[in-house]
Amino acid sequence: MRIIIADDYQEMSRRAAAMVSSQVILKHDSVLGLATGDTPLGMYKELIKLYENKEVDFFDVSTFNLDEYYKLSIENKQSYYYYMNHNFFRHINVKKENTHILNGMAKDITAECRNYDQQIKNDGGIDIQVLGIGANGHIGFNEPDVNFEAETHLVKLDEMTIEANSRFFSSKDEVPTTAISMGIKTIMQSRRVILLASGAGKADAIYKTVNGKICPELPASILQLHPDATIIIDKNAGKLLSDD
Ligand code: PGA
Repeated sequence: MRIIIADDYQEMSRRAAAMVSSQVILKHDSVLGLATGDTPLGMYKELIKLYENKEVDFFDVSTFNLDEYYKLSIENKQSYYYYMNHNFFRHINVKKENTHILNGMAKDITAECRNYDQQIKNDGGIDIQVLGIGANGHIGFNEPDVNFEAETHLVKLDEMTIEANSRFFSSKDEVPTTAISMGIKTIMQSRRVILLASGAGKADAIYKTVNGKICPELPASILQLHPDATIIIDKNAGKLLSDD
């Protein structure tokens, strides 16, 4: 596990964008695994700048997002479908048909999950997976649990996640309590993983990700076993690491 401690959020975002853009420059038809939330917003802005400066071209790229809320329509501004189009896809030249986001409104969620895993396989697997992390150590919506879920699945959100995500909704009651998420096996099969974190609120989760026991109670700890994982964090998120 490589650890890059950036001075601040901007540097973290630039470093992450540099890794993703290098991947695309080296392999024009890369498969990107993408994340939502506040943390990667700066990285998307940097990638858009690189695209506008003609330093990277997304024309042949395909993307798979980590997760989506269950039963939240894509028109809802809190859906991850909306987030991705609004914050990234509409600003670059990726083909719409090559962007994949789980459909939380699918009638048959089991089939939706199986098809998603199959589509990732059909596209040759994920070359680089971008991850955020919850203060509870979740990656995607793989919440602390007694088991690791391998494949894409329906998940009941942790109370801590509902609380954290309530800042995006007008009230906590509006936060969906269920979501669909890529599973741990799918994430671990990505050829390269980068995990981003910013702020002191993530420091404990980052400490346990790097130094803790590998266990499903802290899902990100599994990344210790990934052959090519890079953690890019700002000083605040890394503040417990520097004491080691
Ligand atoms: P955040 O969410 O980037 O909004 O902090 C990260 C996550 O919950 O995975």
